[in-house]
Amino acid sequence: MGARKERASMEQSPLLPLREELAQVTPYGAPQLDVAARLNVNENPYPPSPGMIADITQAVARAAEGLNRYPDRDFTALRKALAGYVRRESGLSFPVEQIWAANGSNEVMAQLLGAYAGPGRTVLGTEYSYSMYPEYVRGAHSRYVRVPRRSDYNVDVDALLQGLREVSPSVLLLANPNNPTGTASSEAELIQILQQARETGPVIDDRRTATVVVVDEAYAEFRSPGQPSALALLEKFPHLVVSRTMSKSFGMAGLRLGYLVAAPEVIADIMRVRLPYHLSALTQAAAIAALGHAEEQLRQLAELRERRDNLASWLESKGYTVPRTQANFVLFGPFPDRHQIFSDLLDRGVLIREVGPEGFLRVSIGTSQEDQAFRQALEEVTR
Ligand SMILES: Cc1ncc(COP(=O)(O)O)c(C=O)c1O
Repeated sequence: MGARKERASMEQSPLLPLREELAQVTPYGAPQLDVAARLNVNENPYPPSPGMIADITQAVARAAEGLNRYPDRDFTALRKALAGYVRRESGLSFPVEQIWAANGSNEVMAQLLGAYAGPGRTVLGTEYSYSMYPEYVRGAHSRYVRVPRRSDYNVDVDALLQGLREVSPSVLLLANPNNPTGTASSEAELIQILQQARETGPVIDDRRTATVVVVDEAYAEFRSPGQPSALALLEKFPHLVVSRTMSKSFGMAGLRLGYLVAAPEVIADIMRVRLPYHLSALTQAAAIAALGHAEEQLRQLAELRERRDNLASWLESKGYTVPRTQANFVLFGPFPDRHQIFSDLLDRGVLIREVGPEGFLRVSIGTSQEDQAFRQALEEVTR
Protein backbone atom coordinates (compact mmCIF):
# COMPACT_ATOMS: atom_id res chain seq x y z
CA MET A 1 0.00 0.00 0.00
CA GLY A 2 1.36 3.45 -0.87
CA ALA A 3 1.95 5.93 1.95
CA ARG A 4 -0.96 8.16 0.93
CA LYS A 5 -3.41 5.27 0.68
CA GLU A 6 -2.25 3.94 4.06
CA ARG A 7 -2.82 7.34 5.69
CA ALA A 8 -6.26 7.58 4.11
CA SER A 9 -7.30 4.22 5.56
CA MET A 10 -5.95 5.19 8.98
CA GLU A 11 -7.93 8.41 8.87
CA GLN A 12 -11.07 6.39 8.50
CA SER A 13 -10.29 4.28 11.59
CA PRO A 14 -12.77 4.89 14.38
CA LEU A 15 -11.45 6.35 17.62
CA LEU A 16 -10.93 3.64 20.23
CA PRO A 17 -12.40 4.20 23.69
CA LEU A 18 -9.11 3.92 25.62
CA ARG A 19 -9.54 4.63 29.34
CA GLU A 20 -8.74 8.34 29.85
CA GLU A 21 -6.17 7.70 32.58
CA LEU A 22 -4.16 5.53 30.16
CA ALA A 23 -3.71 8.24 27.54
CA GLN A 24 -0.26 9.25 28.80
CA VAL A 25 0.85 5.76 29.86
CA THR A 26 3.64 4.03 27.94
CA PRO A 27 4.03 0.22 28.02
CA TYR A 28 6.25 -0.92 30.90
CA GLY A 29 9.37 -2.92 30.30
CA ALA A 30 13.13 -2.91 30.81
CA PRO A 31 15.18 -3.08 27.59
CA GLN A 32 15.77 -6.58 26.19
CA LEU A 33 19.04 -6.22 24.27
CA ASP A 34 21.35 -8.87 22.91
CA VAL A 35 24.58 -7.78 24.60
CA ALA A 36 27.45 -9.69 26.22
CA ALA A 37 26.49 -8.90 29.84
CA ARG A 38 22.76 -8.65 30.57
CA LEU A 39 22.68 -7.41 34.14
CA ASN A 40 19.49 -5.33 34.19
CA VAL A 41 16.58 -7.49 35.35
CA ASN A 42 17.98 -9.57 38.24
CA GLU A 43 17.76 -12.91 36.48
CA ASN A 44 19.74 -15.97 37.51
CA PRO A 45 22.62 -16.01 35.00
CA TYR A 46 22.76 -19.81 34.77
CA PRO A 47 20.55 -21.69 32.30
CA PRO A 48 18.82 -24.90 33.48
CA SER A 49 21.00 -28.03 33.70
CA PRO A 50 20.74 -30.70 30.95
CA GLY A 51 18.96 -32.97 33.50
CA MET A 52 16.38 -30.30 34.26
CA ILE A 53 15.85 -29.56 30.57
CA ALA A 54 15.28 -33.29 29.90
CA ASP A 55 12.75 -33.60 32.73
CA ILE A 56 10.86 -30.46 31.69
CA THR A 57 10.77 -31.63 28.07
CA GLN A 58 9.39 -35.03 29.06
CA ALA A 59 6.79 -33.54 31.41
CA VAL A 60 5.63 -31.03 28.79
CA ALA A 61 5.37 -33.79 26.16
CA ARG A 62 3.19 -35.83 28.53
CA ALA A 63 1.01 -32.80 29.28
CA ALA A 64 0.67 -32.10 25.54
CA GLU A 65 -1.16 -35.41 25.13
CA GLY A 66 -4.04 -33.98 27.18
CA LEU A 67 -4.18 -30.48 25.72
CA ASN A 68 -7.69 -31.03 24.35
CA ARG A 69 -8.85 -30.75 27.99
CA TYR A 70 -8.73 -27.68 30.25
CA PRO A 71 -5.97 -27.87 32.87
CA ASP A 72 -6.53 -28.62 36.57
CA ARG A 73 -8.07 -25.29 37.59
CA ASP A 74 -6.75 -25.60 41.13
CA PHE A 75 -3.31 -26.98 40.08
CA THR A 76 -3.19 -29.19 43.17
CA ALA A 77 -0.11 -31.19 42.10
CA LEU A 78 1.84 -27.98 41.51
CA ARG A 79 0.76 -26.52 44.86
CA LYS A 80 1.99 -29.72 46.56
CA ALA A 81 5.32 -29.43 44.77
CA LEU A 82 5.60 -25.75 45.81
CA ALA A 83 4.80 -26.70 49.42
CA GLY A 84 7.67 -29.21 49.25
CA TYR A 85 10.04 -26.57 47.93
CA VAL A 86 9.00 -24.04 50.58
CA ARG A 87 9.58 -26.69 53.28
CA ARG A 88 13.02 -27.49 51.86
CA GLU A 89 14.00 -23.81 51.64
CA SER A 90 12.54 -22.44 54.88
CA GLY A 91 12.00 -25.48 57.09
CA LEU A 92 8.29 -24.56 57.41
CA SER A 93 5.37 -26.76 56.35
CA PHE A 94 2.20 -25.40 54.78
CA PRO A 95 -0.80 -27.34 53.42
CA VAL A 96 -1.94 -26.94 49.81
CA GLU A 97 -4.80 -24.71 51.06
CA GLN A 98 -2.23 -22.07 52.00
CA ILE A 99 -0.41 -22.01 48.66
CA TRP A 100 -1.46 -20.22 45.49
CA ALA A 101 0.31 -19.61 42.16
CA ALA A 102 -0.07 -17.60 38.97
CA ASN A 103 1.86 -16.53 35.88
CA GLY A 104 4.70 -14.75 37.66
CA SER A 105 4.39 -12.92 40.95
CA ASN A 106 3.18 -10.03 38.77
CA GLU A 107 -0.07 -11.92 38.28
CA VAL A 108 -0.18 -13.03 41.92
CA MET A 109 -0.06 -9.34 42.89
CA ALA A 110 -2.69 -8.34 40.34
CA GLN A 111 -4.99 -11.02 41.77
CA LEU A 112 -4.35 -9.88 45.34
CA LEU A 113 -5.14 -6.28 44.45
CA GLY A 114 -8.16 -7.48 42.50
CA ALA A 115 -9.50 -8.92 45.75
CA TYR A 116 -8.36 -6.33 48.29
CA ALA A 117 -7.79 -3.00 46.48
CA GLY A 118 -10.15 -1.44 43.91
CA PRO A 119 -11.76 1.97 43.25
CA GLY A 120 -11.76 4.34 46.24
CA ARG A 121 -9.19 2.29 48.14
CA THR A 122 -5.57 3.02 48.98
CA VAL A 123 -2.47 0.87 48.67
CA LEU A 124 0.55 1.82 50.77
CA GLY A 125 4.18 1.31 49.72
CA THR A 126 7.59 2.83 50.26
CA GLU A 127 9.70 5.08 48.06
CA TYR A 128 12.46 3.40 46.01
CA SER A 129 10.67 0.10 45.72
CA TYR A 130 9.72 -2.24 42.88
CA SER A 131 8.79 -0.16 39.86
CA MET A 132 5.81 -2.38 38.97
CA TYR A 133 3.92 -1.59 42.19
CA PRO A 134 2.41 1.65 40.86
CA GLU A 135 1.40 -0.26 37.72
CA TYR A 136 -0.42 -2.96 39.71
CA VAL A 137 -2.18 -0.28 41.74
CA ARG A 138 -3.21 1.64 38.62
CA GLY A 139 -4.63 -1.59 37.19
CA ALA A 140 -6.74 -1.94 40.34
CA HIS A 141 -7.99 1.69 40.04
CA SER A 142 -6.67 2.47 43.50
CA ARG A 143 -4.58 5.26 44.99
CA TYR A 144 -0.89 4.54 45.67
CA VAL A 145 0.75 6.31 48.62
CA ARG A 146 4.48 5.97 49.27
CA VAL A 147 6.19 6.68 52.59
CA PRO A 148 9.84 7.82 52.61
CA ARG A 149 12.72 5.47 53.47
CA ARG A 150 15.56 6.25 55.85
CA SER A 151 18.73 7.84 54.50
CA ASP A 152 20.39 4.37 54.41
CA TYR A 153 17.40 3.24 52.25
CA ASN A 154 16.03 0.88 54.91
CA VAL A 155 12.32 1.00 55.72
CA ASP A 156 11.49 3.85 58.09
CA VAL A 157 9.22 1.86 60.41
CA ASP A 158 7.86 4.95 62.20
CA ALA A 159 6.95 6.57 58.88
CA LEU A 160 5.29 3.35 57.77
CA LEU A 161 3.29 3.00 61.00
CA GLN A 162 2.17 6.61 60.62
CA GLY A 163 1.21 5.95 56.98
CA LEU A 164 -0.87 2.95 58.04
CA ARG A 165 -2.75 5.10 60.57
CA GLU A 166 -3.20 8.05 58.23
CA VAL A 167 -4.38 6.52 54.95
CA SER A 168 -6.14 3.30 56.12
CA PRO A 169 -4.77 1.26 53.22
CA SER A 170 -6.42 -2.03 52.34
CA VAL A 171 -3.01 -3.36 51.19
CA LEU A 172 0.61 -2.67 52.11
CA LEU A 173 3.24 -3.71 49.54
CA LEU A 174 6.63 -4.36 51.08
CA ALA A 175 9.41 -5.98 49.04
CA ASN A 176 11.79 -7.72 51.43
CA PRO A 177 14.61 -7.76 50.37
CA ASN A 178 13.65 -4.62 48.52
CA ASN A 179 14.22 -3.92 44.83
CA PRO A 180 16.17 -1.77 43.87
CA THR A 181 17.92 -1.04 47.18
CA GLY A 182 18.57 -4.69 48.18
CA THR A 183 17.92 -3.75 51.82
CA ALA A 184 15.85 -5.99 54.12
CA SER A 185 13.76 -5.31 57.22
CA SER A 186 14.34 -7.41 60.32
CA GLU A 187 11.77 -9.83 61.72
CA ALA A 188 11.22 -7.51 64.70
CA GLU A 189 10.37 -4.65 62.33
CA LEU A 190 7.96 -6.81 60.35
CA ILE A 191 6.24 -7.86 63.59
CA GLN A 192 5.80 -4.21 64.61
CA ILE A 193 4.23 -3.43 61.22
CA LEU A 194 2.01 -6.52 61.26
CA GLN A 195 0.77 -5.81 64.78
CA GLN A 196 -0.32 -2.33 63.85
CA ALA A 197 -1.80 -3.44 60.50
CA ARG A 198 -4.35 -5.63 62.29
CA GLU A 199 -6.61 -2.60 62.55
CA THR A 200 -5.60 -0.04 59.94
CA GLY A 201 -7.64 -1.15 56.91
CA PRO A 202 -10.77 0.59 55.62
CA VAL A 203 -14.01 0.50 57.63
CA ILE A 204 -16.52 -1.93 56.10
CA ASP A 205 -20.04 -2.27 57.56
CA ASP A 206 -18.99 -0.22 60.59
CA ARG A 207 -16.11 -2.54 61.29
CA ARG A 208 -12.42 -1.69 61.02
CA THR A 209 -10.65 -4.22 58.77
CA ALA A 210 -6.99 -5.17 58.69
CA THR A 211 -4.48 -3.94 56.15
CA VAL A 212 -3.36 -6.96 54.11
CA VAL A 213 0.44 -6.89 54.41
CA VAL A 214 2.08 -8.35 51.30
CA VAL A 215 5.72 -9.16 51.97
CA ASP A 216 7.17 -9.65 48.51
CA GLU A 217 9.99 -12.15 48.92
CA ALA A 218 10.98 -12.37 45.25
CA TYR A 219 14.63 -12.42 46.40
CA ALA A 220 14.13 -14.38 49.64
CA GLU A 221 16.61 -17.14 48.81
CA PHE A 222 19.44 -14.60 48.51
CA ARG A 223 18.93 -13.26 52.05
CA SER A 224 21.84 -13.62 54.43
CA PRO A 225 21.99 -16.92 56.33
CA GLY A 226 20.21 -16.58 59.68
CA GLN A 227 17.76 -13.93 58.43
CA PRO A 228 14.30 -15.52 58.83
CA SER A 229 11.69 -15.43 56.08
CA ALA A 230 8.34 -13.76 56.83
CA LEU A 231 6.84 -17.23 56.31
CA ALA A 232 7.60 -17.84 59.99
CA LEU A 233 5.10 -15.09 60.91
CA LEU A 234 2.11 -16.49 59.02
CA GLU A 235 0.82 -18.50 61.93
CA LYS A 236 0.46 -15.40 64.13
CA PHE A 237 -0.70 -12.92 61.48
CA PRO A 238 -3.52 -14.09 59.19
CA HIS A 239 -3.48 -10.74 57.34
CA LEU A 240 0.09 -11.46 56.12
CA VAL A 241 0.72 -12.69 52.57
CA VAL A 242 4.19 -13.86 51.52
CA SER A 243 4.75 -13.68 47.79
CA ARG A 244 7.58 -15.55 46.04
CA THR A 245 8.69 -16.40 42.53
CA MET A 246 10.61 -19.00 40.52
CA SER A 247 12.01 -16.16 38.35
CA LYS A 248 15.05 -15.25 40.42
CA SER A 249 16.94 -17.76 42.56
CA PHE A 250 15.23 -20.67 40.86
CA GLY A 251 16.45 -19.47 37.47
CA MET A 252 13.09 -19.80 35.72
CA ALA A 253 12.16 -16.24 34.70
CA GLY A 254 11.03 -17.59 31.32
CA LEU A 255 8.56 -20.00 32.92
CA ARG A 256 6.44 -17.24 34.54
CA LEU A 257 5.61 -18.85 37.85
CA GLY A 258 5.00 -16.83 40.99
CA TYR A 259 3.31 -18.07 44.14
CA LEU A 260 2.20 -16.98 47.57
CA VAL A 261 1.72 -18.48 51.00
CA ALA A 262 -1.12 -17.10 53.12
CA ALA A 263 -4.08 -18.01 55.31
CA PRO A 264 -6.65 -20.24 53.53
CA GLU A 265 -9.14 -17.30 53.70
CA VAL A 266 -6.83 -15.21 51.50
CA ILE A 267 -6.65 -17.97 48.91
CA ALA A 268 -10.45 -18.28 49.00
CA ASP A 269 -10.70 -14.51 48.34
CA ILE A 270 -8.26 -14.70 45.41
CA MET A 271 -10.36 -17.48 43.90
CA ARG A 272 -13.22 -14.99 43.65
CA VAL A 273 -11.23 -12.86 41.16
CA ARG A 274 -8.88 -15.23 39.32
CA LEU A 275 -9.71 -16.12 35.76
CA PRO A 276 -10.42 -19.85 35.56
CA TYR A 277 -7.61 -21.99 34.12
CA HIS A 278 -5.07 -19.18 34.43
CA LEU A 279 -2.17 -21.63 34.70
CA SER A 280 -1.81 -23.66 31.51
CA ALA A 281 -1.24 -27.41 31.66
CA LEU A 282 2.20 -26.82 30.12
CA THR A 283 3.19 -24.31 32.79
CA GLN A 284 2.01 -26.63 35.55
CA ALA A 285 3.91 -29.59 34.11
CA ALA A 286 7.11 -27.63 33.52
CA ALA A 287 7.05 -26.06 36.98
CA ILE A 288 6.57 -29.41 38.74
CA ALA A 289 9.45 -30.91 36.74
CA ALA A 290 11.69 -27.91 37.54
CA LEU A 291 10.88 -28.10 41.25
CA GLY A 292 12.22 -31.66 41.20
CA HIS A 293 15.64 -30.04 40.74
CA ALA A 294 15.44 -27.73 43.74
CA GLU A 295 18.64 -29.10 45.29
CA GLU A 296 20.85 -28.15 42.35
CA GLN A 297 19.22 -24.71 42.08
CA LEU A 298 19.71 -24.00 45.79
CA ARG A 299 23.35 -25.13 45.55
CA GLN A 300 24.15 -22.23 43.17
CA LEU A 301 22.98 -19.66 45.67
CA ALA A 302 26.08 -19.65 47.86
CA GLU A 303 28.24 -18.80 44.85
CA LEU A 304 25.93 -15.99 43.70
CA ARG A 305 25.74 -14.55 47.23
CA GLU A 306 29.52 -14.60 47.53
CA ARG A 307 29.93 -12.85 44.17
CA ARG A 308 27.36 -10.25 45.27
CA ASP A 309 29.21 -9.52 48.50
CA ASN A 310 32.55 -9.26 46.65
CA LEU A 311 31.07 -6.89 44.09
CA ALA A 312 29.47 -4.73 46.80
CA SER A 313 32.83 -4.50 48.64
CA TRP A 314 34.65 -3.70 45.41
CA LEU A 315 32.20 -0.89 44.59
CA GLU A 316 32.55 0.46 48.13
CA SER A 317 36.34 0.39 47.80
CA LYS A 318 35.92 2.60 44.72
CA GLY A 319 34.16 5.18 46.89
CA TYR A 320 30.53 4.55 45.91
CA THR A 321 27.64 4.46 48.35
CA VAL A 322 26.32 0.86 48.36
CA PRO A 323 23.24 0.04 50.47
CA ARG A 324 23.64 -3.32 52.25
CA THR A 325 22.08 -5.80 49.83
CA GLN A 326 20.50 -9.19 50.55
CA ALA A 327 19.32 -9.76 46.98
CA ASN A 328 21.03 -10.72 43.70
CA PHE A 329 21.85 -7.15 42.72
CA VAL A 330 23.77 -4.17 44.00
CA LEU A 331 22.70 -0.52 43.97
CA PHE A 332 25.57 1.95 43.76
CA GLY A 333 26.18 5.65 43.17
CA PRO A 334 25.59 8.50 43.16
CA PHE A 335 26.74 9.74 39.75
CA PRO A 336 26.27 13.34 38.61
CA ASP A 337 24.92 11.96 35.31
CA ARG A 338 23.88 8.33 35.70
CA HIS A 339 22.42 8.15 32.23
CA GLN A 340 25.82 8.88 30.73
CA ILE A 341 27.41 6.06 32.74
CA PHE A 342 24.56 3.71 31.77
CA SER A 343 25.03 4.52 28.06
CA ASP A 344 28.82 4.29 28.19
CA LEU A 345 28.54 0.86 29.82
CA LEU A 346 26.04 -0.21 27.19
CA ASP A 347 28.48 0.87 24.46
CA ARG A 348 30.85 -1.67 26.02
CA GLY A 349 28.24 -4.46 25.96
CA VAL A 350 27.19 -4.17 29.62
CA LEU A 351 23.49 -3.56 30.24
CA ILE A 352 22.51 -2.45 33.77
CA ARG A 353 19.55 -0.45 35.13
CA GLU A 354 18.90 3.22 35.78
CA VAL A 355 16.59 2.96 38.74
CA GLY A 356 16.21 4.01 42.37
CA PRO A 357 17.42 7.16 44.10
CA GLU A 358 18.67 10.08 42.00
CA GLY A 359 22.10 9.32 40.52
CA PHE A 360 22.12 5.61 41.41
CA LEU A 361 22.46 2.55 39.18
CA ARG A 362 21.64 -1.11 39.80
CA VAL A 363 23.64 -4.08 38.56
CA SER A 364 22.48 -7.72 38.76
CA ILE A 365 24.83 -10.51 39.78
CA GLY A 366 25.86 -12.40 36.64
CA THR A 367 28.39 -15.10 35.81
CA SER A 368 32.01 -14.44 36.81
CA GLN A 369 32.73 -13.40 33.19
CA GLU A 370 29.85 -10.88 33.26
CA ASP A 371 31.06 -9.63 36.63
CA GLN A 372 34.55 -9.07 35.19
CA ALA A 373 33.12 -7.37 32.09
CA PHE A 374 31.09 -5.01 34.30
CA ARG A 375 34.04 -4.10 36.54
CA GLN A 376 36.35 -3.47 33.60
CA ALA A 377 33.77 -1.39 31.74
CA LEU A 378 32.94 0.67 34.86
CA GLU A 379 36.65 1.41 35.41
CA GLU A 380 36.95 2.54 31.78
CA VAL A 381 33.89 4.80 31.79
CA THR A 382 34.72 6.47 35.11
CA ARG A 383 38.45 6.95 34.45
C1 LIG B 1 10.39 -7.20 44.19
C2 LIG B 1 9.94 -7.95 42.98
N1 LIG B 1 8.76 -8.58 43.00
C3 LIG B 1 8.31 -9.25 41.94
C4 LIG B 1 9.05 -9.33 40.77
C5 LIG B 1 8.45 -10.01 39.57
O1 LIG B 1 8.67 -11.33 39.55
P1 LIG B 1 7.93 -12.28 38.51
O2 LIG B 1 8.93 -12.57 37.46
O3 LIG B 1 7.59 -13.48 39.33
O4 LIG B 1 6.72 -11.60 37.98
C6 LIG B 1 10.28 -8.70 40.69
C7 LIG B 1 11.05 -8.76 39.44
O5 LIG B 1 11.98 -8.06 39.18
C8 LIG B 1 10.73 -7.98 41.83
O6 LIG B 1 11.89 -7.32 41.80
